[in-house]
Amino acid sequence: MIMKLGLSALLVSSALFATSDMSQWIRPNEVPQPKDNKLTKDRIELGKLLYFDKRLSASEQVSCATCHHPKHGWTDLVPVSKAVGAGRGPRNSPTVLNTAYLKRLFWDGRAKSLEEQALGPIEADVEMNMPLEELIPKLQKIQGYVKLFNKAYPNEGGINNKTLAKAIASFERTVLSTTAPFDKYAMGDKKAISKKAAKGYELFIGKAHCADCHDKFNFTDGSFHNIGLKDGDLQGKDLGRYNLKRRAAWYGVFKTPTLRDITKSGPYFHDGSVKTLTEAATICASGGRYKNGVKNKSTYIVDRHLTQAEIAQIVAFMKTLTGADMKLKIPTKFPQ
Ligand code: HEC
Ligand code: HEC
Repeated sequence: MIMKLGLSALLVSSALFATSDMSQWIRPNEVPQPKDNKLTKDRIELGKLLYFDKRLSASEQVSCATCHHPKHGWTDLVPVSKAVGAGRGPRNSPTVLNTAYLKRLFWDGRAKSLEEQALGPIEADVEMNMPLEELIPKLQKIQGYVKLFNKAYPNEGGINNKTLAKAIASFERTVLSTTAPFDKYAMGDKKAISKKAAKGYELFIGKAHCADCHDKFNFTDGSFHNIGLKDGDLQGKDLGRYNLKRRAAWYGVFKTPTLRDITKSGPYFHDGSVKTLTEAATICASGGRYKNGVKNKSTYIVDRHLTQAEIAQIVAFMKTLTGADMKLKIPTKFPQ
């Protein structure tokens, strides 16, 4: 009797251990929302229209979706689009998927919220080239938008920089990953992914140390690292977060990207220099593209001595992080 009790207690505790191990991957209960911009249906619908409306650009040819298209993994599938803000060098367009969970936006983290982020690309001359002092009056002349803004943001002064940013951010907060095979696996369905992918997962959290940086539900620590993509010191190259402040620890560091739906959003890295997941995983697992002499390379980026077969397992695992596209009706008619 005592023996039996002891054994079942042991089983319970090891089962608990196993679930708590997987719990970090489970979707948070709520999408974070600022107090002064809680999600409502009106706000989301308005933001969606703005997101796809090309009239927000000077040329009337470009919308947010041009570079972050839902059918292209919320990116543009080219190595680099012109960067937001002059002088920062061209950068790869990151996915909008799950940006709701990020505390820092852009590769260098220069925006702290989606609201703060949203107005940047509209004004940037290489993106939408539309000064807000021209855009706001332009939108105010569109009666359909006046109505929608007043409904979504009553008593907030109609169409202005703030309500424009808030509406776009509200739509972005609904751009979320769907349940991927790995999510089912994490919730206990051991058959949801292949044996090969399951081995890849063990490597990802173990020997390959990927989860040192790609962790939790969104597979990012929200932090910044220099993974040795560029040689030596970065004379004349993109300095990453160091552009914001000349701190030694910020030299050449970039935000850890999500790995959710990663098969949809290549090419990879801040400079779009890598086409395949195999190459990306190899760089991260072997001490960076440049092994020696890279100023401020992360101490987590060291050669993990993986075989080709092990890299293939990790890639198989990353593929299980892709879910079906979210349900979305792309607007074809816009307010007049
Ligand atoms: C010409 C292409 C282009 C257009 C148009 C564009 N973006 Fe971007 N977007 C980018 C690039 C490139 C970056 C990365 C820039 C950087 O990190 O410095 C970016 C970054 C972002 C990010 C940060 C994602 C992250 O992981 O940090 C969000 C969110 C975003 N854009 C949303 C928008 C919205 C909303 C619009 C429309 C108002 C828009 N973008 C228009 C190219 C574009
Ligand atoms: C030191 C933290 C760190 C570790 C450890 C790490 N990564 Fe990364 N990973 C990053 C950062 C930061 C980037 C973006 C770097 C850049 O573009 O300059 C990145 C980019 C990537 C990308 C490209 C994503 C995209 O959208 O462009 C993939 C894929 C990736 N990592 C997979 C892995 C795998 C697999 C491992 C383990 C073998 C791993 N990473 C280990 C921090 C890390």
